[in-house]
Amino acid sequence: MDLKSAFGCHTTPFTREVRLEDLYGLSVFDQARDGILRAIEKRSSAALIAPAGSGKSTVLRAILGRLPEARYVTHYVKCSEIGKRDMCREIARVASVPSASSFPALLHNLQEKFESTLVDAGRRPVLLLDEGHELRPDVLAMLRVVTNFQMDSRLVLSLVLAGQPDLGKLLARDNQDAIARRIVHYASLRALSRDETAQYVEHRISVAGARHCPFDATALDAIYEIGRGNLRATDNLALESLELAAAAKLKVVGAQHVTAARKTLWPA
Ligand SMILES: Nc1ncnc2c1ncn2[C@@H]1O[C@H](COP(=O)(O)OP(=O)(O)O)[C@@H](O)[C@H]1O
Ligand SMILES: [Mg+2]
Repeated sequence: MDLKSAFGCHTTPFTREVRLEDLYGLSVFDQARDGILRAIEKRSSAALIAPAGSGKSTVLRAILGRLPEARYVTHYVKCSEIGKRDMCREIARVASVPSASSFPALLHNLQEKFESTLVDAGRRPVLLLDEGHELRPDVLAMLRVVTNFQMDSRLVLSLVLAGQPDLGKLLARDNQDAIARRIVHYASLRALSRDETAQYVEHRISVAGARHCPFDATALDAIYEIGRGNLRATDNLALESLELAAAAKLKVVGAQHVTAARKTLWPA
């Protein structure tokens, strides 16, 4: 199954690594991105809370692409993979202080730096924390101290916490605490509508090089009925059905391929 000869694709369509210039533009993504950028601009923190596969990590990438290196030290971290030691290292890196392997050592380095220099002199630290719903309790406790107002007013660290709805619960529980108080902006994302889903599929196949959209109207409809406008489900269904059609040496993807793709992807 060669998607190149079958559909003219120069790259595999519907993968995660869509280039920033190839993103499907929709106001809901732009609003989330711009709202968070404004919060960072104001030296505050922000949260992006939405279900799995709705485009959060991609919004974070778009934010990274818009923070000029001359003004910001940014770092992207997946909370699912990170313990206390790693988080210390990441905070040290964005705050441009010597790396520290323990939390007390990190606090010492941060304090030392901000007692000796003017806050406004350097580039501003922005830490983007993805998979925030998987923040470990001890790491969350660390962030609490670092975003504590007295500490943070000198550090001016902006946190962007992205995660699934459980992150909202985690922060709500944390309501009286430093982190939730520093979050001035909450952004969210929604599933695509039927029309948007069809346009999204057409867009993604065209940026992969296809000159014509191989999905017929019944296929686009089936993708929406099964995937319900979730980007990840849409990607998986579209790629799998495309490969099934290519394997059958067909140039057009129909609803039957999408139904078959569902069975392969999510066996009952
Ligand atoms: N604006 C967009 N344009 C094109 N593709 C997108 C866009 N946003 C997300 N995607 C695609 O949708 C999939 C899911 O997005 P992702 O950001 O990983 O979601 P989440 O982090 O919420 O689970 C990814 O494979 C990504 O390539
Ligand atoms: Mg993600």
